[in-house]
Amino acid sequence: MCGIVGYTGNENAAPILLAGLTKLEYRGYDSAGIAVRDLSRDDVAVVKSPGRLLNLIQKTDNGASVPGTCGVGHTRWATHGEPTETNAHPHSSADDDVVGVHNGIIENYQELKEKLLRHGYVFHSETDTEVAVNLVDYYYKKYKIGPIDAIAKAMVRIRGSYALALMFRDLPGEIWVARKDSPMVIGVTENSAFVASDVPAILSYTRQVYYIDNLEMARLTPGHVSFFNLDGDEVFKDLTEITWDAEAAEKGGFEHFMLKEIHEQPRAVRDTLGSYIREGAVDLSATGLTEELLRSLERIYIIGCGSAYHVGVSAKYVLEDMADIPVEVDLASEFRYRDPKIVKNSLVVVISQSGETADTLAALRLAKERGVPVLGIVNVVGSTIARECDYCMYTYAGPEIAVATTKAYSAQLINVYALAIELGRVRGVITEDRCGELISELNALPDKMAKVLENKERIQWFAAKYANARDIFFIGRGVDHAISLEGSLKMKEISYIHSEAYAAGELKHGTISLIEDGTLVIGVLTQNELLEKTVSNMVECKARGAYLMGLTSYGNYNIEDTANFTIYVPKAERHFIGSLAIIPLQLLGYYTGVAKGVDVDKPRNLAKSVTVE
Ligand code: G6P
Repeated sequence: MCGIVGYTGNENAAPILLAGLTKLEYRGYDSAGIAVRDLSRDDVAVVKSPGRLLNLIQKTDNGASVPGTCGVGHTRWATHGEPTETNAHPHSSADDDVVGVHNGIIENYQELKEKLLRHGYVFHSETDTEVAVNLVDYYYKKYKIGPIDAIAKAMVRIRGSYALALMFRDLPGEIWVARKDSPMVIGVTENSAFVASDVPAILSYTRQVYYIDNLEMARLTPGHVSFFNLDGDEVFKDLTEITWDAEAAEKGGFEHFMLKEIHEQPRAVRDTLGSYIREGAVDLSATGLTEELLRSLERIYIIGCGSAYHVGVSAKYVLEDMADIPVEVDLASEFRYRDPKIVKNSLVVVISQSGETADTLAALRLAKERGVPVLGIVNVVGSTIARECDYCMYTYAGPEIAVATTKAYSAQLINVYALAIELGRVRGVITEDRCGELISELNALPDKMAKVLENKERIQWFAAKYANARDIFFIGRGVDHAISLEGSLKMKEISYIHSEAYAAGELKHGTISLIEDGTLVIGVLTQNELLEKTVSNMVECKARGAYLMGLTSYGNYNIEDTANFTIYVPKAERHFIGSLAIIPLQLLGYYTGVAKGVDVDKPRNLAKSVTVE
């Protein structure tokens, strides 16, 4: 996601900020900016530029045109508002007394913005960051308190995730930071101090770092850093020495981006939930969808490619069940050429991480030509699909670097669940009480996902054992079928092992002839009412020599009577448990690829964004 760099010391800050931002380019961004000040000046120079960092480097003559020894810089990956110069960070408070950069998502920024508007604040951008900067300024002035108390008051009011780096006009040479759920590291040397979203940005200046914890603040001055908790009490921390090399540092210590992104899923899901669940209810106001439109729908068409299509398959099961509405799922490349018969009062939902996939875009345009409203479920703000759809429901996964999608897929599922609950509610299929229960189940998912990740060593062991497999089959029914499709795709794209997913009941209509001694068959068994039926299909495979892996929830221990190896995930609401079950399968694909020596982040023949049909 966004990248933050801050520096205070004796050197010119701008070149250091730009060099640091260059090291954070891997995080993905669509605009950049810096704010720099001199100890002698009380104004701050802010320079921003949309597009590549190179634009900002050229605009500032590699920093030379922005003198000053204290500053903050930012690469923005758009979440609230298009990637324009106005929306780029840093943002300044209404009278430029506070300047800051932010990484994360402020869920209640609309409510905070309204409060500040009532107090005469003026906003120039569409960002949640500008709201945060002004909120700090508001408390700073209202109570005439120091920065710690002003920031702490703002932290108490802000819901969501943030790493904030701020400069105050009346505190030259100081950078103030605050953190909740967004990464931030602070480095120090004898004469300087640094803050960054990730270690690579500061690694060439120092290996001595502090890790600021959640709900903590820090004050940086040249050569010194002090930390404070929300009560304003000073907190003492030990320095850590970074021993990684620069390349490992970019991946946050993970061996590959894919593994890092698998681990980012609880955060991606939490951020996405935070955007569509407010005060215990689904809130789709940010998408533009209205209750009237949702109530009037007679059919939904879901379209995507690859993993996005697999989200559509899950969505069919979930939406038909929870909202009692017919759903058709199509591969975009098929939909666009098959003259689809779209009934009236329909909604077309296109799902795409990149928002640029050529076939998905063509399907969107076809639907619009036919006068059907289109909802886009998109990860990249300002992408073509995001701009052309009638309603846009962003996912908040952050940029994905690994070609094989993981966290964007998980965030897309969350959007589908939120849509299903809201559709079910407005159509009178689920009661308010049931909505409340379902929302609690959704809110519990990130912690449960983190629990699944704790179990990864067992999967790693199993992957090493099966890395030489020739064929792998994934089977399941209902939601488990949808998860099997995605698990199988992960396996084939990054391990190059032939694998296929089948609806469990379909296996005996041909595919079972491929089962030989030792063929691995993975049964996904999270749907309790369908479990016995899938187990029967697994037994049929075992009778023909298959080696069985079962994937189920804790409690279903009798699976071990049939399966040779079983992986458990926490119990969860049956419509949502796919969000947990997919993680072991992502890990299985990943570790199998690693065991085979595949370049898992960039598997052969594949592209992250497929902009040709
Ligand atoms: C490519 C990627 C897949 C992705 C698909 C759709 O094939 O390798 O991981 O699922 O495109 O991409 P989209 O950006 O539309 O979600």
